[in-house]
Amino acid sequence: MFDSIRVGGKDKARILVLGHFKGEGLDKNSAARDASGEAAKALTRGEATGDLGAIAEAHPASGFERVLVVGLGDKKSFDLASARSVGAALAKRLSAIKGGMALIDFDGPFKARRLKPAEAGEAIGEGFGLGAWIDDGFRGSATKKPTRPSVTLTASDRLVQGGIERGLAIAEGANLTRRLSNTPPNIATPAWIADECRAMAKKAGLKMKVWQGEDLEKEKFTGLINVGKASENAPCMIRLEYTPAKAKKDAKPLVLIGKTMTYDSGGLSLKINNGMKGMKRDKDGGCAVIGAMHLIGTVVKPDRPVVALLACAENSISDEAYRPDDIITYRNGVTVEVTNTDAEGRLVLADALCWACEKENPEAIIDAATLTGGVVVALGKVYAGMFCENDKLRKAVEAAASATGERVWRLPMHAEYREMMKSPIADILNSNPSREAHPVQGAAFLSYFVTEGMPWCHLDIAGVHALEGPSGIFPAGPTGWGARLLARVASGI
Ligand code: BES
Ligand code: MN
Ligand code: ZN
Repeated sequence: MFDSIRVGGKDKARILVLGHFKGEGLDKNSAARDASGEAAKALTRGEATGDLGAIAEAHPASGFERVLVVGLGDKKSFDLASARSVGAALAKRLSAIKGGMALIDFDGPFKARRLKPAEAGEAIGEGFGLGAWIDDGFRGSATKKPTRPSVTLTASDRLVQGGIERGLAIAEGANLTRRLSNTPPNIATPAWIADECRAMAKKAGLKMKVWQGEDLEKEKFTGLINVGKASENAPCMIRLEYTPAKAKKDAKPLVLIGKTMTYDSGGLSLKINNGMKGMKRDKDGGCAVIGAMHLIGTVVKPDRPVVALLACAENSISDEAYRPDDIITYRNGVTVEVTNTDAEGRLVLADALCWACEKENPEAIIDAATLTGGVVVALGKVYAGMFCENDKLRKAVEAAASATGERVWRLPMHAEYREMMKSPIADILNSNPSREAHPVQGAAFLSYFVTEGMPWCHLDIAGVHALEGPSGIFPAGPTGWGARLLARVASGI
């Protein structure tokens, strides 16, 4: 949408942005800015519904060239989530009018709702940055690219302006996730993901290590080896580490794990009909973790260490492909009978979970994965499926989710689901042939690779990671789901 988005500066703003609640005129502070009375007049026009994000324009003869009066919806329900929507609506309008410098003054409404200026500003900036995202990097010579305007945002309140700056930076983390998600599988191979991580780690001051080829054998990352072996694009395990400037002594790391399947054809249990289209996004759990690590290193900077593990592979077919009936032995000794090569995500996540429990001494583990179509059937694109039996960790994830708007809904764990995963020949199956409780089966399988008592949260994001049509502040395409949430958890638990 924009060539650049800047915050602050000494130039004189030509665009004034005010707000009004549904059914109400301008508040006192806003009215004082409206010397010509044109903004108040604009509110008498039909389009000034006051609905959240509806914008009425005024063009005064003197002072500001243009005044945008943004609808804030019902006064009693205006909150930080509404402020994110306002930010996104503002981005759209400022893009349509070709950018420029804007002065935002929502001081009256923020005060009326007792919102903290820095937090309210952050929500505006976050919504603006998320709403302004587009990806036309793959348009070629047959598409005429529009020239993109620049925009500068300033605010009447210094704290709001600082918040906007922070919110824009947070949106950048999610937008990194979205760009990676969008990158097609002929480009975004496991090695490409590693290159992207290297570049990000450098910017964000993170340590990085990659296991590939023989290193995978040495560390017995057998899930990755098996799932990835049919592809010319070799699998790898990536480890990123954030170390706080002043680390508390003996602080244990939060470990973030991401399923990073650069393409999921289903393998020999090949996906049929249209089931394969869109499987470039089967890496979105890993992409969310990458976005989160970027935010952790650049914006959030929590005082605890954070380790990320990305299990990267392409699930393809060849005469070297792993097969239904194969039995895989993991580094923790668990043996898995493969019943379906399309249940591959859990096989690569198992490597990362084993490693984390054995080597990283985690405070807690959270994994994010586009694991099952079943979670999409159950929860659609509204909530991610959450499995977490540790109260403290679950509360931290839920608190972060309600702050960022990335919703989670708890699904059950029970010993009987673990029973469903038992194999007649090995320890466990990767998928029970019955169609019952698919998302829970995935979580039950993963639980065999997590040490008992370890605080662990599994997020099945197969529904929420991408949209077919616009919804809320997001256009169709990747939502960057999880990047903001995971970064917030890192600062919260
Ligand atoms: N990557 C898919 C899950 C998925 C489905 C993600 C739709 C996004 C949208 C996963 O690897 C998969 O194929 N799951 C199978 C599991 C089954 C074979 C046990 C599924 O959900 O059908
Ligand atoms: Mn699959
Ligand atoms: Zn998959």
